[in-house]
Amino acid sequence: MKAVVIHEHGGRDQLVYQDVPDPAPAAGEILVRVRAVGLNYLDIFVRRGMPGLPVDLPRISGGDIAGEIAALGDEAASVAVGQRVLLDPMVTLPNGEIGALGENTTGGLAEYIAVPAENAIPLPDAVTFEQAAALPIAYGTAWRMMIARGRLRAGESVFILGASGGVGTGAVQIAKMLGCVVYAAASTEAKCQRLRELGADHTVNYIEHPEFHRYLRSITDGDGVDVVVNYTGGDSWVRSLKCVKLGGRILTCGATAGYDPPTDIRYIWRKEMDIIGSDGWRRQDLVDLVDAVRAGTVVPVIDRVLPLAETAEGHRLLEEREVFGKVIIAP
Ligand SMILES: NC(=O)c1ccc[n+]([C@@H]2O[C@H](COP(=O)([O-])OP(=O)(O)OC[C@H]3O[C@@H](n4cnc5c(N)ncnc54)[C@H](OP(=O)(O)O)[C@@H]3O)[C@@H](O)[C@H]2O)c1
Repeated sequence: MKAVVIHEHGGRDQLVYQDVPDPAPAAGEILVRVRAVGLNYLDIFVRRGMPGLPVDLPRISGGDIAGEIAALGDEAASVAVGQRVLLDPMVTLPNGEIGALGENTTGGLAEYIAVPAENAIPLPDAVTFEQAAALPIAYGTAWRMMIARGRLRAGESVFILGASGGVGTGAVQIAKMLGCVVYAAASTEAKCQRLRELGADHTVNYIEHPEFHRYLRSITDGDGVDVVVNYTGGDSWVRSLKCVKLGGRILTCGATAGYDPPTDIRYIWRKEMDIIGSDGWRRQDLVDLVDAVRAGTVVPVIDRVLPLAETAEGHRLLEEREVFGKVIIAP
């Protein structure tokens, strides 16, 4: 079969489109014909290499996978050949730790993948493969961060940085679903316009307003907001602390622009804020999300669909911030 294989950490030229042996399902596994794979910033980090988080190479990346069951291994009777499924990317590794498809084990940027049958979530006909593949890592993480960890309530104001990306477009829709007032930030006016169309009540262009905390306070009567969502890190961190109301909270699940920014502890105590971390999703979050998509409450935002051979172009689009929503690869 065809696959995209990372042999060495590095630039986009390390994504090699090549033939590899077809996988065969072991006992308890299913073979899935991959129809759609959602790209995430995680795929960029897996390709580049992450300090302190080693990735075994060579590696086929891609954790967000939807497709049809092509064959069953022994003891995989809970599902049927031909069934449309979304795969939960979370897997238990041989050492008992939790890992992710495409990061710690073989991922889906290929024509087929063999995975534990228990990872399959049935897909209703109303949810397309592309929509499903947009969900787990980005929208699943946004779901857990906003609902279980962040406990967002109707009427609260929420400021979301990096709102145009995968986690961001999910976070905007989930915040609106919960009845929040959404301030969404992005780097271009075109992205801000799309965010307003998606439901954001207000937008902040942080290239036009590099001191975005001042601008946000100016449009919130000097108060700031109840909740800031920041998975960008880097230069945006201290400014984000300045956007939080007294007694507010900051939610974080990532650090696209840098994981060790300077901080300003004074704002944390003076504003009596809570800083809440959130990591990944739980199975029920994905089941709830598939149902929300079926019901039309959440509509995955898909920027474009590319063939497997153009995976490197998908990485470029993410790295150069040219994406609104998700890039989907269709093997
Ligand atoms: N802990 C977890 O379980 C988990 C799960 C999913 C994602 N994450 C993390 O969350 C972050 C977002 O992931 P994603 O898949 O949503 O990424 P994405 O689709 O590429 O979106 C990231 C957004 O951040 C903005 N951004 C700001 N500074 C950036 C920079 N220096 N480089 C690139 N983009 C920048 C971009 O929008 P503008 O151009 O408009 O600023 C972009 O749309 C990543 O750090 C990822 O690792 C963590």
